[in-house]
Amino acid sequence: MGAMTDQSSQDMFDDTSKSWARDEPRLLSDWTARPFLLQWSTPVAEKRILDMGCGEGYFTRQLARSSSEKAQHLEGIDISAGMIELAQANEQQIPLEITYSVGCATDFKAQLSEYDLITAVFVYNYTTVEQMQQSMKRVYDHLAPDGHFIFSLPHPVNPFMDSGTDSFHFERSGGWFSGRDQTFEGRMAQRDGSEVSVRCLHKTFQDVLDGLRTAGFTHFPDFRELAVTEKMIAEDEDFFGPLADLPLHMAFKVGK
Ligand SMILES: C[S@@+](CC[C@H](N)C(=O)[O-])C[C@H]1O[C@@H](n2cnc3c(N)ncnc32)[C@H](O)[C@@H]1O
Repeated sequence: MGAMTDQSSQDMFDDTSKSWARDEPRLLSDWTARPFLLQWSTPVAEKRILDMGCGEGYFTRQLARSSSEKAQHLEGIDISAGMIELAQANEQQIPLEITYSVGCATDFKAQLSEYDLITAVFVYNYTTVEQMQQSMKRVYDHLAPDGHFIFSLPHPVNPFMDSGTDSFHFERSGGWFSGRDQTFEGRMAQRDGSEVSVRCLHKTFQDVLDGLRTAGFTHFPDFRELAVTEKMIAEDEDFFGPLADLPLHMAFKVGK
């Protein structure tokens, strides 16, 4: 962990870890992002997987449950001890053969030297550009030659648009370039009508692509801009309707 840890984000997650604990979709991104990321990540059979910034393990458990054939190794790390305690408690109650430990995405001590899949679901919005780039380097070093790295971030244009909705929105506290590394506070709706605080240390597309390139990745990344779908709107117009046509998240899948 050390000096690169963002203490305020760590405290925020230690304090709020209980409100994140869930096994059913609840947050907007449980519909608009995680199912897509899971689809990209599967099949998990026989894979050695590291879920960085796993939180209380919602996505890690989805990976474990995604097929009848198990992953060879499934490991989650998170900087928040509170989140890891919850994840471990869940694993004790309902064992899925996942191992969890406290660790930072920038300098994690991995159990294995190589992974077939490394994921980072909404983690780099809590790190600086430099930390993200350090982490990408570490990912590269621990990725098997034909392995994949999958990560998601809030869509960086979101704070710069007049979205007309609070269901998912960040307040910008800087410009597109001058706001790099500035903390943009935001809100995300939950389907029960409440909302959670979210945070995004602003990064440009160039920051992400530079990070991958300087880490050593030479393959062209698969890139998606995630939004609500017609199907979601048809299912719950009140919840998803106000977000129609807005870019919500971005997802990257890249091989070495
Ligand atoms: C929005 S939550 C996402 C949790 C999980 N990936 C999911 O999708 O359900 C972000 C998580 O990133 C963790 N985090 C933030 N900075 C980190 C870092 N430098 N290293 C590891 N985890 C970090 C937080 O503690 C938090 O659990």
